[in-house]
Amino acid sequence: MTDTSTTLDPFPHLHIRPPQGWVNDPNGIGHWDGRWHVFYQYNPHAPVHANIHWGHSSSADLLTWRDEPVALAPRPGSIDAAGVWSGVATMDDGEPVLVYTAVPDVAANAGVALARRGADGTWVPGRQVAPAPGGDLREIRDPFVFTSGGARYALMGGGRADGTPVVLVYGADDLDRWELLGDLLDGTDDVAAGVAPGKIWECPSFVELPDGEGRLRWVLILSLWDDAHDRHLRGVAALVGDLDLTGPHPRFRPDAGHLLDDGPDFYAPQALAGPDRTLLWGWTWESGTRSPEDVAAAGWAGALTFPRELVLDGTTVVSAPARELTGLRRAPIPVTGTEVRPDAPAWEAIADGVLAVGLSGPHGEREVWRTPAHATGGLSRVLVDGSVVEAFAGGAANTVRAYPGAGEQWVIRAGGGSAAEPDLSVWELGRPSP
Ligand code: FRU
Repeated sequence: MTDTSTTLDPFPHLHIRPPQGWVNDPNGIGHWDGRWHVFYQYNPHAPVHANIHWGHSSSADLLTWRDEPVALAPRPGSIDAAGVWSGVATMDDGEPVLVYTAVPDVAANAGVALARRGADGTWVPGRQVAPAPGGDLREIRDPFVFTSGGARYALMGGGRADGTPVVLVYGADDLDRWELLGDLLDGTDDVAAGVAPGKIWECPSFVELPDGEGRLRWVLILSLWDDAHDRHLRGVAALVGDLDLTGPHPRFRPDAGHLLDDGPDFYAPQALAGPDRTLLWGWTWESGTRSPEDVAAAGWAGALTFPRELVLDGTTVVSAPARELTGLRRAPIPVTGTEVRPDAPAWEAIADGVLAVGLSGPHGEREVWRTPAHATGGLSRVLVDGSVVEAFAGGAANTVRAYPGAGEQWVIRAGGGSAAEPDLSVWELGRPSP
């Protein structure tokens, strides 16, 4: 008999997010003082997008996260009175600097400001380094910093009044005084128009990756915003191409691209190019999975995804869970036959071939994810933590939220792979003991 009196905990305890309030985009990702640092868009006071701060979490191993004090908060009467919106961290003279969108008023264009660490370790916001652009530009925000050819540049996402999305490029050798150079890319580019449609490109990330064939390529990751649809968040595109530094200002020339995640609940990721690999965290939002009343009652909304590693295979950006995440595996869950019903809110399953994941309860069964047809010949891997489901198959990631209802439990089914007996392994997930 199914026990209808209990409901599995939907809170993603293994992911980055504080116990209460609203979370959206990952920000300021970096590694300093021997720890990983991930900041995020955060409203500590209510589970709604308003009065945005930068929350902060840190980890030595990418597995156990420590909540740090809020790093940045809106300051009444200042350049960020209406919100401290998305941005990155960069190193300047060996010290981390937070580079953020300073919103004076949500109806106005935003500028960019820096925050540096004070003697007591708190983050001290400074002055504006790039003013809000005018003309036909709108919703310009979300700085990203990169270097190429010995120079430092910054990007900002946004759009034009006529509905064309754009990424602006700035010279930022002097981090305290940026110079607008021109468009890195806009939506009139043929490849971008096909792969990255939208009115605004939010949260650009720009990283260089080897393509497996001896070439270094640039990958531009864009979050697609379009208010012509009920759902304004239209997913995330990855464009692959070359950075052209020969003209009057840097241009990105993409020749291919695709969605970075095939699921409905993934947005505004940020990539960190490290010395040996590129990591990425995204925001997994509630989309339509919970009513505003349920969100208000729970007191929390949104989480960051698990960290992912990105590699380039030709012109395909392949996503996989960060290699450290196998360290979350606790006891194996015994598998007999092809079906497992894990009695745990957090678990991982790997199968050779097709994997189907659903929730089963008193009112029947609903499918949450299944290996897509193009990926049935390889490994399928699913990590579930509360209501966050991250699935990987055929090189593609798929993020989806699913809230277990009263009496519902997870059902995992394997089959259809090349092996005669489906090769299915399942573990309970949890933090390693200190
Ligand atoms: C993306 C986004 C960013 C903005 C931030 C505000 O989800 O809209 O463009 O900086 O969220 O919280």
